[in-house]
Amino acid sequence: MPINTQQLKQWKQQGRPIVALTAWDYAIAQLLDAAGVDLILVGDSLSVILGYETTLPVTLEEIIHHAKAVKRGIKRALLVVDLPFLTYQESIAQAMQSAGRVLKETGAQGVKLEGGYPAMIDIISRLVQAGIPVLGHLGLTPQSIHQLGLKQQGKTPQAADLIFHQAIALEQAGVFALVLEHIPCHLAVKITKELSIPTIGIGAGQECNGQILVTSDVLGLSEKQPPFAKVYTDLRQEITKAVEKYALEVRNHHF
Ligand code: KIV
Repeated sequence: MPINTQQLKQWKQQGRPIVALTAWDYAIAQLLDAAGVDLILVGDSLSVILGYETTLPVTLEEIIHHAKAVKRGIKRALLVVDLPFLTYQESIAQAMQSAGRVLKETGAQGVKLEGGYPAMIDIISRLVQAGIPVLGHLGLTPQSIHQLGLKQQGKTPQAADLIFHQAIALEQAGVFALVLEHIPCHLAVKITKELSIPTIGIGAGQECNGQILVTSDVLGLSEKQPPFAKVYTDLRQEITKAVEKYALEVRNHHF
C-alpha cells in the first residue's frame, strides 16, 4: 500500500520508527523504495550530486526535474520535495506558487520548508489550509548556512527553548511531521514527547520517531560527510576500483 502522511502519525502512536532517506534520480529511488524506505525526500542536499558548495544555488527547476525522475521509481514510499532557498520565504503567494508547482508537476505528496519563525509559521499555515502537506525542518537549517554555519543548534537553554516553541508552533500550523537536524538529543526527546506529529531526526539522537540521512552520505558517495552521518558502504572506492579495472582491460585489449 502506498504510504500517506496520516500513516506516519499512526506509526508514531504505535511506536513504529519511520525510515527516511533522500533520493535524486530514478535508479536510486527504485532501490530505496524496494528496500522498504518509508519516506523519500528529494532534498536540496541534491547540491552534493550537482557539485554545488551549499544548498543555496539549487533552483526550483532543478529540484522539480529530479523529483519527477524519483517519483517514477517509487511504488510505496511517501515522496516529499524540498522547496529551495528563496522559493518560499518571500511571501505566502510565492510559497503557494512554488509548492503548487512541485505537487502538480512531480506527483510528490508534500513539500519541506526550513524554519519556524513567525512569518514562516504564517506561510506554512496557509499552505496547509490550501491542502498542501508540509514537512517542517528545525535545528540546523542548511539554507541559513551563512547565518548559522553547519554547527549543532539549540545548545544553550535559550536556543533550545526557541526551537522547542517553534516546534509547537509548527505543529499548530499543521505540519504533518518535523525534521530535527543536529540538535542535542535531550532537546529532540523533549520535542518528540510534546508533539503528537512524528519527529524525524538527523543528528538528533535515537529517540526521534524516525531517522533521515542524505543517501549520498550513507553510500559513501559524498566527498565529505557531516559528523552525525553514518556511512554504510564506500561507493566512491567501489566505483573507482571498477572503473580502473575497466580502463586497464580496455588498454590491454582484454575487453
Ligand atoms: O536536503 C536534505 O537532504 C535535507 C535532509 C538533510 C533532511 O533537508
